[in-house]
Amino acid sequence: MLSSGNLIQSQMESFLVFLIVLGVAVKAHKVQICPKRCVCQVLNPNLATLCDKKGLLFVPPNIDRHTVEMRLGDNFVTGVKRKDFANMTKLVDLTLSRNTIGSIAPYAFKDLENLRALHLDSNRLTRITNDTFSGMSKLHHLILNNNQLTHIHSGAFNDLTALEELDLSYNNLESAPWVAIQRMSNLHTLNLDHNMLSLIPEGTFSGLQKLKRLDVTSNKLQKLPPDPVFQRAGVLATSGIMGPSSFALSFGGNPLRCNCELLWLRRLQREDDLETCASPQHLAGRYFWTVSEEEFLCEPPLITRHSQV
Ligand SMILES: *[C@@H]1O[C@H](CO)[C@@H](O)[C@H](O)[C@H]1NC(C)=O
Ligand SMILES: *[C@@H]1O[C@H](CO)[C@@H](O)[C@H](O)[C@H]1NC(C)=O
Repeated sequence: MLSSGNLIQSQMESFLVFLIVLGVAVKAHKVQICPKRCVCQVLNPNLATLCDKKGLLFVPPNIDRHTVEMRLGDNFVTGVKRKDFANMTKLVDLTLSRNTIGSIAPYAFKDLENLRALHLDSNRLTRITNDTFSGMSKLHHLILNNNQLTHIHSGAFNDLTALEELDLSYNNLESAPWVAIQRMSNLHTLNLDHNMLSLIPEGTFSGLQKLKRLDVTSNKLQKLPPDPVFQRAGVLATSGIMGPSSFALSFGGNPLRCNCELLWLRRLQREDDLETCASPQHLAGRYFWTVSEEEFLCEPPLITRHSQV
């Protein structure tokens, strides 16, 4: 343990400096290496390296590779490099929130085989590529809200099969990796609000039996795909009360097209939110929940199609 407060003899101090210079080469059983300005806590047997709000411009190079919790929030880190978190196989929780991260090197998180939570919110990421999160099969929480994401490669989330929470809100996404999301069978919270989504493919949520919260507020959706999972949206959670099987669905702030394709949604019994219809023209501006079911009509061309509704 680094009881440096007691080490006042200059001999001991230079020995410590020597150890720090040696950095990761030291097999730190008794002596933990703590980056300058950070606080390192040993919560037996786990090591937490706490570097929030330290004015850091980059990820410090001499993080103890045994760290279980790593906090780097509220700094000025601009990018994540391949070596920054190399060999940190014990890391469970990594927070990089509120920095200025605009780039993540390919495979930068590759060694984090035990990571459960990755917080990257409030940064400057514009895209996520196939090699950004590859191999992170134990990740439960991926928090990416408040970035500038415009594009996520279609295979970028393929390995994230254990994900329970995915937050992509407040970005500029026109699409999401729907096929990968469809396979996240443990997902309970999916935040997609405040993006530019105009279409959610049918079947996206069908296998997500544990889904409890879906927020698609403020997108460009004209409709939602009908899905059995929405039947659980019974009494909405605006009341704050969530029953064991209830489901919180938020979809206000979308240009809803109130025709026969949304009749299923209108039929759900729920406390109303302030969702409004944007089209067809004669319903524009009406509150979704006050439009009667009979008014959710499709134009003649749709009816003549051979579609089984
Ligand atoms: C990671 O481990 C490898 C192999 O032990 C070593 O060569 C490399 O320098 C280590 N990298 C870091 C950043 O600790
Ligand atoms: C990403 O992976 C998907 C499938 O896993 C593949 O179809 C796509 O072409 C890849 N994209 C890039 C840019 O490599």
